Amino acid sequence: MTTIPKTMRAVAIDRFGGPDVLKVGMLPVPSPDADEVLIAVHTAGVGGWDADIRAGWWPDSVDPHFPLVLGTDGSGNVAAVGSRVRRLHVGDAVYSYSWNNSKGGFYAEYVAVPAERVAPIPSVLDLRLAGAIPTTGLTALQGIDGALHLRSGQSVLIHGASGGVGTLAVQFAKLRGARVLASASGPDGVALVRRLGADEAIDGRHEDLPAAVRRSAPHGLDTLLALAGGDALQDCIATVRDGGRVAFPNGVEPEPKPFGAVTLIGYDAISGVGELTNLSHAVEAAKLQVPIDSEYFLADASKAHERLAQGHVLGKVVLRIR
Ligand SMILES: NC(=O)c1ccc[n+]([C@@H]2O[C@H](COP(=O)([O-])OP(=O)(O)OC[C@H]3O[C@@H](n4cnc5c(N)ncnc54)[C@H](OP(=O)(O)O)[C@@H]3O)[C@@H](O)[C@H]2O)c1
Repeated sequence: MTTIPKTMRAVAIDRFGGPDVLKVGMLPVPSPDADEVLIAVHTAGVGGWDADIRAGWWPDSVDPHFPLVLGTDGSGNVAAVGSRVRRLHVGDAVYSYSWNNSKGGFYAEYVAVPAERVAPIPSVLDLRLAGAIPTTGLTALQGIDGALHLRSGQSVLIHGASGGVGTLAVQFAKLRGARVLASASGPDGVALVRRLGADEAIDGRHEDLPAAVRRSAPHGLDTLLALAGGDALQDCIATVRDGGRVAFPNGVEPEPKPFGAVTLIGYDAISGVGELTNLSHAVEAAKLQVPIDSEYFLADASKAHERLAQGHVLGKVVLRIR
């Protein structure tokens, strides 16, 4: 059995600011409560919401406790379990999404997380790829299933398909038997979403997207998953048929506005044993491909945030911790 050290390397912020406020240092290893597990982190996801928090957007009503370790998701091996945890064991390869985790985030060698937000990694992924998908995978799957109720034979436009959530949503929508139109960013984004299985791919930054959607679905789209906001999105909502559904994860800006007889659903990804089990089943059934845009060592977390700020991320940015 490996011994757990008292301190660990972690990337924390002491104040809000630009990427340069992300500093690597030594912090105490969190100790898991009875219903928590301690994970020795292998890979952590880096998302736009991390950059928002770093820059001063704070989701809690209580002020943040500095030093604040960022990171909402990742993968690793269970290093210790709380006294009431039966489902998971030391050594298990696991992945987790834990928004606003009270004992600090995943940009660290260890993270203590409620066991109910942790599950074994899907059999078709290794720790690196599993660590890239908890937040984006749950968001994609819950958009397709929970919000859109996408059925076989229906059409769906995935707008913003070349990003972290979209690259996975394309594959889950194909898994459900839908006809998938994907709007991606740039020719490289278009090529990526075609490789991932989109039936039709449109460059939403450089082409007339609403016109292309009308040509492809002349009787109106059944559903639309919005992962990028703006005029093109709003014009596409107008191409959804009466009674159709439009879903967007909260955080898409500007927030889409309702139009005509279309149901508009904003949602947040939910993490739990059932949700992560559903995700694992879908990942395995889809033999999910996980595009990694770029990977950084923990000490280079500020570079990972600079990469996010550059934009045009194809797939996901991750931190390699072990
Ligand atoms: N509430 C929740 O639980 C939750 C969870 C996860 C994510 N979210 C939100 O969901 C959204 C998507 O997340 P993400 O991680 O997938 O972000 P992302 O990686 O930035 O993906 C968005 C994609 O949309 C593309 N895009 C922008 N304008 C476009 C256009 N006109 N046509 C085609 N593509 C366009 C972007 O390309 P360029 O970068 O090249 O412009 C980018 O690839 C974010 O707003 C995030 O905050 C919410």
